[in-house]
Amino acid sequence: METIKIALAKGRLADLSIELFEQIGLKFTSYHEKSRKLMFTSDDGHYELILVKATDVGTYVENGAADIGVAGKDTLLEAGVDVFEVVDLGFGRCRFAVAGEPGVSLNQYHHLTVGTKYPKITNDYFKAQGKQIETIKLNGSVELAPLVGLSDVVVDIVETGSTLKENNLVIIENMMDISARLVTNKASFKTKDEKIRPLIDQVKSIVDSKGSVTNES
Ligand code: PRP
Repeated sequence: METIKIALAKGRLADLSIELFEQIGLKFTSYHEKSRKLMFTSDDGHYELILVKATDVGTYVENGAADIGVAGKDTLLEAGVDVFEVVDLGFGRCRFAVAGEPGVSLNQYHHLTVGTKYPKITNDYFKAQGKQIETIKLNGSVELAPLVGLSDVVVDIVETGSTLKENNLVIIENMMDISARLVTNKASFKTKDEKIRPLIDQVKSIVDSKGSVTNES
């Protein structure tokens, strides 16, 4: 029997996705047992779950190592993966913003430097505005960059806004809203449609009926 492989991002996104799948009757009892396992089979034996790093979900799905995945719009955009984005799940909501020290204006710089974990999204954003910038790729603690003179501003995810506030930074420009998306491999969408389409439809109807699949929003 051919199974459907689902790639999820380890951690909170996986927990919320499993919660959603359970609402449509797709159970992964073994996922709830504490372990370091990275692969789980659904109770009905028709689905296999793989846990990967958030930034890799799109890669697994694009290459067909997974038929379906759940990933943040941020990681999908940054990876530039070629997949079908089929449902906005409404959880994992946050936004991208340009942030800097209070009083800073983007127009004051001839040569703007931007610290970010997301160089592709940053370049695409400023390029669309016809602005030339230099990105400085960071892997975390991005908010430090303007404080220590590594970059003029940062492009980062803002969820509650606490990290910016506690580091005395402010939003200069809101860029876009992001949330978790259900994605499928392009070939699987056609060849395995009798299994994938009902899953998508059920997920969609839950998201549509609740506005969001969790209490979060
Ligand atoms: C993310 C993001 C911000 C913070 C935003 O960082 O890069 O730093 O969360 O959340 P807030 O608006 O609710 O404060 P993450 O926690 O992934 O840590 P990192 O900086 O080490 O990547």
